[in-house]
Amino acid sequence: MSESVQETAKFIVVANRLPVDRIVNDDSTVDWRSSPGGLVTALEPVMQARGGAWIGWHGAADEQVEPFHHDGYDVIPVALSELEVERYYEGFSNATLWPLYHNCIAEPVFHREWWDAYRRVNRRFAQAAADRAEHGATVWVQDYQLQLVPQLLREMRPDLRIGFFLHIPFPPIELFNRLPWRNGIINGLLGADLVGFQTPGHGSNFLRLARRQPGIEGARGRVHLSDGRMVTAKAFPISIDAAGMAELANSPKVQAEARKLRADLGDPSTILFGVDRLDYSKGLRNRVRAVGELFDSGELNPEEVVYLQLATPSRERVEEYRILRDDIDLLVGRINSKSASLARSAVNYRYTSVPRETLTGMYQIADVMLVTPLLDGMNLVAKEYLACRSRSDSALVLSEFAGAALELKQAYMVNPYDIDGMKATILRAVHDSPRVKARKMRAMRRQVFEHDIDLWADSFLNQLEGE
Ligand code: ADP
Ligand code: F6P
Repeated sequence: MSESVQETAKFIVVANRLPVDRIVNDDSTVDWRSSPGGLVTALEPVMQARGGAWIGWHGAADEQVEPFHHDGYDVIPVALSELEVERYYEGFSNATLWPLYHNCIAEPVFHREWWDAYRRVNRRFAQAAADRAEHGATVWVQDYQLQLVPQLLREMRPDLRIGFFLHIPFPPIELFNRLPWRNGIINGLLGADLVGFQTPGHGSNFLRLARRQPGIEGARGRVHLSDGRMVTAKAFPISIDAAGMAELANSPKVQAEARKLRADLGDPSTILFGVDRLDYSKGLRNRVRAVGELFDSGELNPEEVVYLQLATPSRERVEEYRILRDDIDLLVGRINSKSASLARSAVNYRYTSVPRETLTGMYQIADVMLVTPLLDGMNLVAKEYLACRSRSDSALVLSEFAGAALELKQAYMVNPYDIDGMKATILRAVHDSPRVKARKMRAMRRQVFEHDIDLWADSFLNQLEGE
């Protein structure tokens, strides 16, 4: 494959994020760092396998960056001004849409100037795709930040096959209808030939809304538009490169790292592990409370059990995220000040992201994995754990409100709002017999290896190209 950037591409992914973030250090040197979040984790192996172009924002404000070749595909940066970061990214995407689409766990904020910025930036992404796409190319638009792109792109380039995939939940009609610009969003998505969701329920929510638009009729997962076009909406549960992660987890380097990590944690008999972006949708407050109470009551003995929790910094300038960070610092501090032995802390909390090898090593040493979001489109962490942790004496505690719960039915399922219920389930996950745990792990690991990221991308793209 050529190492130089191509003028055009016949396969294009358009996402708010690029796979790498541009970081300008204090001494003005520049570094590129892997971008946070499940979207990048999922799409990187797809792009490495297929090639083409990935259009997205490079994470810095007011900086024009030239396209470059990376890992077998072209990276096409889209610039955002400081004001656009504030209004389009932090504002409309992450203080309006994110809470609205996550069942208003936090109150969505509506500002007309944020919507204007969202429209302007969506047009820029659509234009970037229109400029790069070969005649008849396939363009795959990703996630809630870019819901207007399908319609804008279709107006610019009717020759393209356009797909859209929503990585987060699509809300019920009663919540979506609060949005003053709801028709704009629905019409934006209807510019696609195929709209993909994480679960069938999210797809039905969208179809119900689409059918209410004037001139639109629909049945059985499709709607017919007045211009004769047809749009299909369907669930494509996203996944991970399970074999690739398992290979990394079994490499001598990661095995050695895992041994060292366990020793660094004081060689406890049981390690509970959580890893999330620091986001209120991930249910960290309740999770930390539940584990803290178990330490307090002595049902978990801090001499034997350690709870390791990593949190990736995320959207740090958005108010709700700042409050969450302080709350977790406080909760963890309280637990450790009460129950920590001098030798080690009961809760080992790190507000940082770690390299893939280290994360894989952590999955390897996690006896009980805690994945307890209040609501999550899918949650790839749960699947990563299953791919990396091959020991059968392992347990996945999973929220029934994660999309992954539909596939990983053998998990220790919890309602993350029910702290007492969560405590009881965590104890069960710690103490159940190895035989019970092995049976659960076997079934769930099979599911993840048989439904991997290749299957996800192939199913979506085959359907899109056949539409
Ligand atoms: P979301 O897309 O909402 O962040 P997911 O669970 O689907 O949630 O995906 C999160 C991704 O980010 C996973 O691939 C996970 O491994 C990665 N990740 C989360 N926290 C960290 C961290 N502290 N360090 C490294 N990777 C992380
Ligand atoms: O779908 C999950 C997601 O919201 C992605 O769209 C996003 O890239 C990722 O989480 C991380 O969030 P952010 O890009 O705001 O850092």
